Amino acid sequence: MIKINENYLKLASGYLFPEISRRVKSFSTKNPDKNIIRLGIGDVTEPLPPAIIEAMHNAVNQMGSKTDLKGYGPEQGYDFLIEAIITNDYKSRGVSLENTEVFVSDGAKCDTGNLQEIFGIDNVIAVTDPVYPVYVDTNVMAGRTGKADKSGRFAGIVYMPCTPDNNFVPELPKEKVDLIYLCFPNNPTGAVAKKEQLKKWVDYAKANKAIILFDAAYEAFISDNVIPHSIYEIEGAKEVAVEFRSFSKTAGFTGLRCAFTIVPRELKAWTSDGKAVDVNPIWNRRHCTKFNGASYVSQVAAAAVYSADGKKQVRKIIELYMSNASLIVGTLKKLGFEVYGGVNAPYVWLKTKNKMTSWEFFDYLLNKANVVCTPGSGFGAAGEGFVRLSAFGDPVNVAEAMERIKKI
Ligand code: MLT
Repeated sequence: MIKINENYLKLASGYLFPEISRRVKSFSTKNPDKNIIRLGIGDVTEPLPPAIIEAMHNAVNQMGSKTDLKGYGPEQGYDFLIEAIITNDYKSRGVSLENTEVFVSDGAKCDTGNLQEIFGIDNVIAVTDPVYPVYVDTNVMAGRTGKADKSGRFAGIVYMPCTPDNNFVPELPKEKVDLIYLCFPNNPTGAVAKKEQLKKWVDYAKANKAIILFDAAYEAFISDNVIPHSIYEIEGAKEVAVEFRSFSKTAGFTGLRCAFTIVPRELKAWTSDGKAVDVNPIWNRRHCTKFNGASYVSQVAAAAVYSADGKKQVRKIIELYMSNASLIVGTLKKLGFEVYGGVNAPYVWLKTKNKMTSWEFFDYLLNKANVVCTPGSGFGAAGEGFVRLSAFGDPVNVAEAMERIKKI
């Protein structure tokens, strides 16, 4: 008899974003005349900029040529992309990395979900609450948790509440934890962490022989100069942190797929008898076994993000999304809402009014304004009573969404 992995049965029936799509689809089937504006999932709406398209066309032509065809590439990614990443994203911020510390992949979602599998099952996991659901769900699937309670919190996970009182940056846990997921700029709250705040986490990880999984997928949206873009801007972080980055939001690659993960040479984990093990070769081993590399065309496209034209064009798109964010923040504040984020991040975190739950507010906005948001409770118990609005959208649609919200 084939047995199922029963850990999967502990999960809520649907992943958050497909569940939202299901509800929106059902609404639009019943109301075919309604023009729905989607500010739910953080998916890009602007076309890829010309420098990237041109590079891709050239790469496609190479794939059609007997002499230039690329078959399997290096699992870790091509050096031309790895070198562009190191120079532009890290050297420029005073962080030195070796090529072997960068692992190119097809998405930060997969990487943040997969990385846990190289660590022991008995590690104690700490996540912020609210949190990007992938971190929690993949640990549930792996069997690192018990069942969920009514609020959706799984037994065995340490949840670190992020609320207006702590500016959505969590306090250090009272208990000892081994694997800590942090995401800054934060999805979903749009909060950022200062250097001193990240330093506390690096110090904690060092003192407790823990590892931080730092999701920096939204670093390109930081506008405030004092906010670090990488956890490696904190001294000693290479000894205790993995960092995830993505071209999805930075450069509109959600449909193209390219991302990367940094696993420093200094990073160590321990065997049960206390022997130190280098994490980098273990991740490399896993990566080579389970992954054949991101497509050549995607990697050429990603390298074009760092060309002079690519940088300018990508920046313009980021500015467009961030001007959506400031319109959303400004409008909602004027309407008397409690609003967070939207300054160094493309997400706006909004407290509902009249004690509405997140899903009640989601339904209200969908029914009355035909605008889709993401219910905060879908990101965790501490997200109850909040919703997230994404700034990824056509500016005309975002402006229209704000007008509709004003009217209701
Ligand atoms: C989100 O809306 O939170 C993200 O787009 C989801 C993702 O990156 O997987």
